[in-house]
Amino acid sequence: MSKPLVSIIMGSSNDWEIMQQAAQALKDFGVAYDARVISAHRAPDLLFDHIKEMSAQGVQFFIAGAGAAAHLAGVIASKTTLPVLGVPIPSKYLKGMDSLLSIVQMPKGIPVATFAIGEAGAANAGLFAVSMLALNDAQLAQKLVDYRKKQAEQIAATTLPAL
Ligand code: RP5
Repeated sequence: MSKPLVSIIMGSSNDWEIMQQAAQALKDFGVAYDARVISAHRAPDLLFDHIKEMSAQGVQFFIAGAGAAAHLAGVIASKTTLPVLGVPIPSKYLKGMDSLLSIVQMPKGIPVATFAIGEAGAANAGLFAVSMLALNDAQLAQKLVDYRKKQAEQIAATTLPAL
């Protein structure tokens, strides 16, 4: 296994159903990643150790998925100057609006790039990491062009059933 370029962290194993979309996007583009469950409030010391370990291994981005009072992405951002991409996980009672606001409303000075609630946000966080890595990787950049082309072709080929 090559060294991970992206570290995916989520607050609960229940978040994996959504966060696997980020992992899938990275896998589709051949980007090595590490994925772990570490809650910022249930296991803060483990989180800090993991951030240090991932940084030492040379990861270039963190993708953090969390729900409800979702401080995971902000806490990670407080411990590293690497870019942190936050994915709001749909929550039971507030349907992820709590997660979204917790992640997007970072006070000035410690930025977190926030994506859409749920699967689309997780997939797009993965794709965004790919496009950032593609800035210094021509092969990856070409793969992104091919991916967009295929997506456009699928749209063009879509027909609706006759009434
Ligand atoms: C957050 O609390 C997790 O990210 C999860 O989305 C939410 C609920 O956690 P569980 O009770 O499902 O483990 O820390």
